[in-house]
Amino acid sequence: MRIFSGIQPTGRKHIGNYIGAIRGYLEGQERADPAIYCIVDLHATSVAYDPEALPGYVLDTTAMLLAAGLDPGRCILFRQSDVREHTELTWLLCSVTPCGDLQRMHQFKDKSEREQELVRTSLFLYPVLQAADILLYRSDEVPVGDDQRQHIELAREIARRFNSTYGEVLVEPKHVIPEVGARIMDLQDPSTKMSTSYGTDAGLIYIDDEPDDIRRKLARAETDSGREVVRGPDKPGISNLIEVMSVTRGAAPEDIEREFEGEGYGTFKNAVAEDVVGLLAPVRERYRELRPDEDGLERMLAEGAERARAIATPMLAEVRDVMGIGPKGAASPAVQRRG
Ligand code: TYM
Repeated sequence: MRIFSGIQPTGRKHIGNYIGAIRGYLEGQERADPAIYCIVDLHATSVAYDPEALPGYVLDTTAMLLAAGLDPGRCILFRQSDVREHTELTWLLCSVTPCGDLQRMHQFKDKSEREQELVRTSLFLYPVLQAADILLYRSDEVPVGDDQRQHIELAREIARRFNSTYGEVLVEPKHVIPEVGARIMDLQDPSTKMSTSYGTDAGLIYIDDEPDDIRRKLARAETDSGREVVRGPDKPGISNLIEVMSVTRGAAPEDIEREFEGEGYGTFKNAVAEDVVGLLAPVRERYRELRPDEDGLERMLAEGAERARAIATPMLAEVRDVMGIGPKGAASPAVQRRG
């Protein structure tokens, strides 16, 4: 069983990424064969970005994932642009991707509305590159947060259409979205998801935030009128914090509500803050140790890329072969056998 997921090297990662996705990566590396995790630097070029800073952001994200517990002995961790097969497969998959499907993607609509100067073609093709990431490894499961649901559904659709057009080569992946914590909301505006692209600093808890910053941000988190610690549609702020605590304690949200019955928001927010500090402090400390060793991180990514390529190269050869690209029969022996 193969697991694949990708994460953008955009700025600092936040507790939404940790709770919604990175926890799933950790769980995945224990049971997949193999678990493959990719830092998607090509996706980062689909909106305005700083080319000088991008290589450093890739190392930030690499060190953060290692600090959180990813182990290159138990998973493949690599940089997307190191494996050129991703871009070639993107183009080939465009041949079975209707424009209309791309126009309907929520993230394309949101991001293109916010782009000030240029809506890049790469923003439009973003979901096809994401589908290529996944399909190149015949991935069975894709651990992600709720905001990626539509992209994974599109990847399934692309695989289906490809297989019915050219022959059964691709595997339809399924998303693995956690039951609790799949959509952590901004602390200042709990009607929108926590995101480095749109949120303010006060609304986000970064994985490498200092404990006092975490305490301050949670103390100032937007809460709703009333004082009961219970979930509800009119209580998005408290509901969000209950989800966070539910993850830090590994307890059901109902148990948290019961525990804090009659306590009021202040006590509850302090308790959430201490839990989050406890969860993130070891990751922050390890990150500080790992991040300075840039040569070591680059070496590790290069090894990861080599292992990824060993899967991607024969797979792409099969895709090219069934699509009639290149000389006949150039693909792996598996394809020649099938033919
Ligand atoms: P990215 O880098 O925005 O986010 C990485 C992961 O974090 C999850 N996430 C959240 N989960 C809960 N609450 C939140 N507020 C929150 N914000 C982000 C995301 O769902 C994601 O799982 N398009 C992807 C990267 C990608 C990818 C892939 C993912 C490229 N290729 C192939 C899976 C498979 C993205 O931008 O993630």
